[in-house]
Amino acid sequence: MKEQLKLIEQNAIAALNEAQTPAALEELRVRLLGKKGELTAVLKQMGGLSPEERPIMGQLANTVRANIEQVMENRKAAIHAAVLEQKLASEAIDVTIPGEAVSLGHQHPMNMVLQEIKDIFVGMGYTVVDGPEVEFASYNFTRLNIEEGHPSRDRSDTFYFDENDEVLLRTQTSSMQIRFMEEHQPPLCMLAPGRVFRKDEADATHSPMFHQIEGLVVAENITMGDLKGALITIMNKIYGHDAQVRFRPHHFPFTEPSCEMDMQCHKCHGTGEVDGQVCSTCHGEGWIELLGAGMVHPEVLRNCGIDPDKYSGFAFGIGLERTAMGRLKITDLRLIFDNDVRFLNQF
Ligand code: DAH
Repeated sequence: MKEQLKLIEQNAIAALNEAQTPAALEELRVRLLGKKGELTAVLKQMGGLSPEERPIMGQLANTVRANIEQVMENRKAAIHAAVLEQKLASEAIDVTIPGEAVSLGHQHPMNMVLQEIKDIFVGMGYTVVDGPEVEFASYNFTRLNIEEGHPSRDRSDTFYFDENDEVLLRTQTSSMQIRFMEEHQPPLCMLAPGRVFRKDEADATHSPMFHQIEGLVVAENITMGDLKGALITIMNKIYGHDAQVRFRPHHFPFTEPSCEMDMQCHKCHGTGEVDGQVCSTCHGEGWIELLGAGMVHPEVLRNCGIDPDKYSGFAFGIGLERTAMGRLKITDLRLIFDNDVRFLNQF
């Protein structure tokens, strides 16, 4: 029996020192010291011993048990330390590795140009205002002297919300002229940038949604000279002093006289051709229409309770996308709306 106990002790210590995980250790504990374990099995044979031998064997068995427990404890601590060591190594953070760069966005190129234009006008004393995109036909058309039956009121051109064609998506920011004059008396100086909507097919210079910047100045003795002066000043500030622009006579129901202003095409430089092909940016015109303008029609002033015999004014509506295209040398309007980061990152 003594040999048996010694053998158990030897084997146990060897097995314990081989154990690598807490689970393996627990398995050994059950096998060696558990109720059905090897040691218990030997102790069960104690009954067959003589009274002299019994205490000696009992003591030996206790010593063996204590030794096994001691080795088990040591092993347990060693495994625990090894596991911790491994965890620390695998979770270690190297604070010296360079971080991942965060790429910052920036304002949309069109908004950059809008901001530039607003700054210029604010510097000239204009008040910047905002207004509704869903508008009454009376503000968008009627009070601007655009009568029932005018082609621009046609359902094929305008997005209406109702059967009676009274509520619509504004087709021009000129509606803001009426809104502003309703609330302010001359002298007044207003700038109203915003979105407008038309049933247009998209191409290099058209989109069913685009932006206009409306301007309105009403005071005593305002002339066409003031209008030209203001617009040329703006264009020189945006495009530089060698900017090539031209004024053409035109007709708008809410201004008299009226004109349009064009900028020389930045792609073909006014020739209308690129590499022997018709220029796709200006459709061969050599010029790009930037804005409509004119002297505010007396009827429009009257519609807002302003006396046309005392006051006169000028108004203009700038196409923002086209202005931005010229400013940033963009050759296709659709790029502005696609929001492809490869395009946006160039600015
Ligand atoms: N609203 C016109 C358009 O969308 C542009 C315009 C022309 C605005 C003459 C004006 C103006 O203020 O006086 O085509």
